[in-house]
Amino acid sequence: MSVNQSIKPITSEVKNNHLIVGGCDTVELAEKYGTPLYVIDESTLRKVCKEYVDAFKAYPNATVLYASKALATSAIFKIVTQEGLGLDVVSGGEIYTAYKAEIDMSTLMFNGNNKQEWELEAAVDVGVGRISADNFHDIELLGKISKSRNKAVNILLRITPGIDCHTHEYIQTGHLDSKFGFDLTQVDEAVKLVTSDYPLITIKGLHAHIGSQIFDTAGYIDEAKILANELARLNKEYSLNLSELNLGGGLGVKYTHEDNPPEIGEVADVVINTLSGEFKNLGLKNIKLYIEPGRSVISTSGVTLYTVGAEKQVPKGAKYISVDGGMADNPRPSMYQAEYTCDAANKMNNPKEELVTIAGRFCESGDILIKDIKLPSLVPGDIICIYNTGAYNYSMASNYNRVQKPGMVLVNNSQSDIIVYRETLEDLISQDNIPDRLK
Ligand SMILES: Cc1ncc(COP(=O)(O)O)c(C=O)c1O
Repeated sequence: MSVNQSIKPITSEVKNNHLIVGGCDTVELAEKYGTPLYVIDESTLRKVCKEYVDAFKAYPNATVLYASKALATSAIFKIVTQEGLGLDVVSGGEIYTAYKAEIDMSTLMFNGNNKQEWELEAAVDVGVGRISADNFHDIELLGKISKSRNKAVNILLRITPGIDCHTHEYIQTGHLDSKFGFDLTQVDEAVKLVTSDYPLITIKGLHAHIGSQIFDTAGYIDEAKILANELARLNKEYSLNLSELNLGGGLGVKYTHEDNPPEIGEVADVVINTLSGEFKNLGLKNIKLYIEPGRSVISTSGVTLYTVGAEKQVPKGAKYISVDGGMADNPRPSMYQAEYTCDAANKMNNPKEELVTIAGRFCESGDILIKDIKLPSLVPGDIICIYNTGAYNYSMASNYNRVQKPGMVLVNNSQSDIIVYRETLEDLISQDNIPDRLK
C-alpha cells in the first residue's frame, strides 16, 4: 500500500489501550509537550519520499520537488532533501528557511503568482535553481534583476492548461479562469518578451499545476499531453530548446475511509507512459521532468493531539466535545469543509458508542474539526488524535483569538524531538508596539 493510501502514520499501533506513533505513546507525548501538539512520524515521511523517488526512477531524468507550502520547517526540509527531493518554494520565507537549513539552493524551484521584488532578488542572489515565471510582471522583474546583477536566470513558464480536475473549487488551479500562470493564448507573447528583451533569462521549459487532493489520474494525462505539445510547438515556432516540464503536484491522500487516492506508483506510471508516448510522437528527446507534490508527501506523517475539555449536549441535538485547538491550528475544515478522522488516543480499544462532533475552541460557530464521528465516551482530559494533519495545518495556522501556535515534535524509534517550539505568550506580543502617545 502506498503511504498516501493510509489514514494513519505507518508506525501506528495500539499498546495498553493507547495510540503509539513512531514508537512513542501519544498520551505521554501530550503530557510531556502539552496540547495541541503536532506530531510528525519520521518513518512515514522517509518512506513516502523513497516511494516518490523510486516511482519516478523509471523516467531517465526526473526530480521530485517537495512543495514546501504543505509544511515548511527547517527539520522537514532536512529530511526530505536527505531523501533526494528538491524543494518547491513560494515565498522569501520558505527560501530563507531552506537557506538557513543549508539546503542546496540549486534544488529549489520558486513559484507564486505575485512574487515580490525582494523575493526574486533573494532567489537570484542565493542561486535558486529555477524560477517559475507566472506572469509578465515576473518576467519584467527578473529581467531587471538579472541585468542589474549581470547574472543568468533560468525560468519555466507557468501555464494554465485548462483542466478541470474535479476537486474543491478553491484548490483548482489549472482551469482557465485562474489567477495562476499564463493562459495558453498568452504564452507566445511571454516567449517573445523574454527572447527579445531579456538576454540573461533562459526559458528552460513549462510548468503547470492542475489542482490538489486529486484522485483521478486522467487530469495528469491531459496535462502531460498539453504541456508536451506546447513545448514542442514553442521549440519549433521560436527555434528554442525548451527541455524541462514541471507537472506540479496535487496527488490526494486518505483523510477518511471514503477517500480513495491512487498509489504514487500508479500516478508515476501514468505520467511516465503518457510523456514517453507524446515525446516519441513529437520527436522530443532528453526532456527533464519535475513533479512537486506537497500534501501526499507530508500529510500522512502528521497527527495532531488535542485535550478534551467542555462538552455540550444540545437537547435532542448534537453532542459537542470541545478540544483545546481548532481552526487556528487546522483551518481546513472551516475553509474547505475538509473532513478528517480521529481516535481517542487513551481509549483506543474502548467501544465507539457515542456520536459526537469535535468542536474547536475558537470563537466562531464554524470552528468544527470533525462533524458526527463515533468515539468512545469521553471526559475532560482525554486525548483526541486527529490523523493526516501533516499538510496545510501548521503551514496555514494563525494566532486567531491570540492563541499561541502549537509546537511540533518529530517521533522515530521511540524518541521524540521538538522541531517547532510551542509559541509563548511573550511570542504573541513580541511584535506589538505601544506608541509613546498612548503610554
Ligand atoms: C504550483 C504548485 N505546486 C505544487 C503544489 C502542491 O500541491 P499538493 O500539496 O496538492 O501536492 C501546489 C499547491 O497548491 C501548487 O500551487
